[in-house]
Amino acid sequence: MITTITQEQNNMTKPRKPADQSQQEIDHTAKMQAINVNVWFGKKQVLKSVNLTIKPNTVTAIIGPSGCGKSTFLRCFNRMHELAPNAKMTGKILLDNEDIYNSHIDPVQIRRRVGMVFQKPNPFPTMSIYDNVAAGLKLTGAKKGKQLDDIVKRSLEQATLWNEVKDDLTKPGTSISGGQQQRLCIARAIAMQPEVILMDEPCSALDPIATAKIEKLVVELKEDYAVVIVTHNMQQASRVSDYTAFMYMGELIEFGETSQIFENPKETLTDNYITGVFG
Ligand SMILES: Nc1ncnc2c1ncn2[C@@H]1O[C@H](COP(=O)(O)OP(=O)(O)OP(=O)(O)O)[C@@H](O)[C@H]1O
Ligand SMILES: [Mg+2]
Repeated sequence: MITTITQEQNNMTKPRKPADQSQQEIDHTAKMQAINVNVWFGKKQVLKSVNLTIKPNTVTAIIGPSGCGKSTFLRCFNRMHELAPNAKMTGKILLDNEDIYNSHIDPVQIRRRVGMVFQKPNPFPTMSIYDNVAAGLKLTGAKKGKQLDDIVKRSLEQATLWNEVKDDLTKPGTSISGGQQQRLCIARAIAMQPEVILMDEPCSALDPIATAKIEKLVVELKEDYAVVIVTHNMQQASRVSDYTAFMYMGELIEFGETSQIFENPKETLTDNYITGVFG
């Protein structure tokens, strides 16, 4: 398989950019919206005028070759990007029509409303299964008791893990399988009752059976949340998502309904990527 695209091909297929992306309009039906987002690490610009709309109760997949900026972009949606040293961003990220980077907004509050699940399952190693789910709530002042027990149970149920761990809640969070740990991390995110869940390649460390469970769960989660998932797996993107964004070298090349992106891409670059001409 050819793994790189030649400069000539690249030039031929460079996307046509709208004349002025800063004029991007606010979409009042969006749950979240990125407007003209630029990101730098030091002097290196890794995101260039990216616009994207995340609709409520949908799954949006972000695809594109390694290093194109998917994780960086995802992290802009809950202000995690600003935690990286040397990171700089311009543009807006709206949550319910308000810019999450406004000076009066508390980033901790934003990370509560916009939860994140990482590539590698990362349960807190010294905590039990129960405490992993309850940890965030305890930090916000929740006390032990029936109310907390109920939230932990409900979160584990929604993450489709309850039946597998209900008799082992006091065991370490790291004592269960990788796929179970990832669902535990999803339960931990859900327990905070977020509005949006960001997932950065949540299945890349999992076997096919665990992957299938997470995929089914992702589709279920959209009943309650907007979900954004970064994936390298085209089949996964087409199975779970309603909308797909294709990124390349820091730019959003194409965005549309998943069926359109995979069956009838408008841009040659998108076509080349999804058919494996480069990757
Ligand atoms: N903390 C950082 N400091 C400096 N450069 C970074 C940092 N994080 C990412 N980069 C650079 O930003 C660019 C985009 O990286 P990013 O991790 O967003 O890509 P990606 O599309 O998620 O890739 P992958 O599919 O491999 O996860 C890359 O060139 C990367 O080297
Ligand atoms: Mg990444």
